[in-house]
Amino acid sequence: MIVLGIESSCDETSVAVLKNNILTTNLISSQDFHKNYGGVVPELSSRAHLQIVNPLVKDALKKSGIELKDIDLIAATAGPGLIGALLVGLTYAKGLALGLNKPFISVNHIEGHIFSGFLMKQKPEFPFLCLVVSGGHTLLLLVKNFTEIYKLGNTVDDAVGESFDKVAKLLGFGYPGGPKIQEASKFGDANKINFPIAELKHKLNFSFSGLKTAVLRYVQSQGGIDKLTEEYKNDIASCFQSAAVNALTRNVKRALKKYDVNSISVVGGVAANEHLKSEMIKISEKYNKNLVIPDIQFCGDNAAMIAFRGKSLYENGIRDTLASKPFPALSENHFLEI
Ligand code: KG4
Ligand code: ZN
Repeated sequence: MIVLGIESSCDETSVAVLKNNILTTNLISSQDFHKNYGGVVPELSSRAHLQIVNPLVKDALKKSGIELKDIDLIAATAGPGLIGALLVGLTYAKGLALGLNKPFISVNHIEGHIFSGFLMKQKPEFPFLCLVVSGGHTLLLLVKNFTEIYKLGNTVDDAVGESFDKVAKLLGFGYPGGPKIQEASKFGDANKINFPIAELKHKLNFSFSGLKTAVLRYVQSQGGIDKLTEEYKNDIASCFQSAAVNALTRNVKRALKKYDVNSISVVGGVAANEHLKSEMIKISEKYNKNLVIPDIQFCGDNAAMIAFRGKSLYENGIRDTLASKPFPALSENHFLEI
């Protein structure tokens, strides 16, 4: 079975080919120009997707040594994401499916991330605990199988990646902030400032807006960003990263005490964070669980995870029509309540 996957939910256009469970291509074209604006500009993103999607598909087919007629299933991200950006990939994929008379399946971007660990050699084993940490989402899930996903916790305000981006902007590090905070943290003292982590009534939920405000207040109390030395900024970055990672791992430990799982998987853009990874390794060893954190190319937005998720849905009997529409946000009740 040959699956063509297309991802265009934000600032990455990606096309992947999955051939009998083997990933033959995962091309990712990143729209670097957004850094000039300090964040993703939706309209510019849509236009860039439109320019690159067709050449990228042609390139992916060539690299995989296949032709259009060899494709058995076409999968594309329907949401959540930027509507204009999603429209480009989704409409392109539907048009291709219609023209080739091949089945089409729309994929939820978050579900793509959830199962991205299956692109690794060592895969998660059901049931697994999944921490989804990206620029738009922070979710703790109990994944029983390919179709039963339970929501254990969610952010009540900012997503963790968003807080990395906002704090980086505040410290003058630029966009995207996650990798910049990680780099600065290496030179900082993580014990210098104690930033608070919100304790919520629902213990498995997350909150990051208070942490971001605490960093802002701290910077203001020191006379503003212009008064801070590089060394001091590194300390602040390091203390913020440590608090943000603590907020995530605290809930993972709580969930492990409550739910019996075989594996833990950490997915999404923030799963690339080295401090989070090292803390998760300690937890997995302590609780004796198999830990799966995808390679960096599968942590950020990519079409390989969309192709895999499309295939798993198709194999579980899910069928789609060309009527599926793009959607900007994840609905409240998308995942099952425990
Ligand atoms: O999953 P993703 O590529 O896009 C979304 O679906 O949101 O995640 C992007 C997020 C950004 O907020 C970015 O700053 C963050 O992932 N990120 C990181 C790191 N690399 C990317 N955050 C912390 N540490 C990193 N190394
Ligand atoms: Zn994503």
